[in-house]
Amino acid sequence: MTKITKAVFPVAGLGSRFLPATKAQPKEMLPIVDKPLIQYAVEEAVSAGINELIFITGRNKRAIEDHFDKAYELETELEAAGKTGLLEQIQKILPKNVTCIYIRQVQPLGLGHAVLCARPVVGNEPFAVLLADDFMTVDEGRPSVLKQMVDLYEKESSSILAVQNVARQYTMQYGIVDALPYRTGLEHVKAIVEKPVPEKAPSTLAVVGRYILNPAIFGCLETLGKGSGGEIQLTDGIAKLIARETVCAYHFEGQRFDCGSKVGYLQAMVTMGLKHPQVREEFRQFLCDLHLSE
Ligand code: G1P
Repeated sequence: MTKITKAVFPVAGLGSRFLPATKAQPKEMLPIVDKPLIQYAVEEAVSAGINELIFITGRNKRAIEDHFDKAYELETELEAAGKTGLLEQIQKILPKNVTCIYIRQVQPLGLGHAVLCARPVVGNEPFAVLLADDFMTVDEGRPSVLKQMVDLYEKESSSILAVQNVARQYTMQYGIVDALPYRTGLEHVKAIVEKPVPEKAPSTLAVVGRYILNPAIFGCLETLGKGSGGEIQLTDGIAKLIARETVCAYHFEGQRFDCGSKVGYLQAMVTMGLKHPQVREEFRQFLCDLHLSE
């Protein structure tokens, strides 16, 4: 059994749904309370046993590299000021055994192309893909969504896509699968299509931003032409993979927020604000005092 130790973070996207906030900073650096989205995704990967993080970056994304690097000036200042708590917090963003690798996606040719850019580093191993703007949270003490998927992979050895049901009107925002129930929480994917209009969607089962993929995906991606939106789509690569091997759709345990959208981002912020040990009491009180009505 090959252990999954590598995760790919496609972070080259422009974040145009979040302008002007993302004009000069990556969307993955938007914070939920006090931590950027990309750090949550990285922590999720690390909790699943991953120790090689492969970021597919682009122009304007330097802040991500800096975030996972040592910050000499800041650390010196915090140390001199005796702010040991904060110092520790920024020093332990990444465990010592974790390596970061940055690959530039020179042109924004799509998610499928971004994943293909990771091929020289991933090689012939199964790997995870995490889209940081799909923010995932689980109840305290429960395994992270990616950990659930890695555990499943160890049993199934087939590629796994995290899925959830969405309202039919939203199918054109997602990869949508046609699947057959296999066992509890797990289905076999028969077909997958990128962003179908509601009338043409084979179901309302949407792929959200967590994937475990077998390396055969690379061969499927390399010959792909442009798909939906004129981009090389990961979904189209997965559609080819299905013809070669089993692909599973997994109904994960946890909550997912679409932090690429304003409403999803606000929902994530409120949810995490209510969980954050430092602010939750005061924040809860603030929300109660709002007395919202229609
Ligand atoms: C991407 C994928 C899509 C998937 C979605 C999940 O779309 O192309 O298949 O369902 O992520 O968030 P994007 O949100 O980048 O348009």
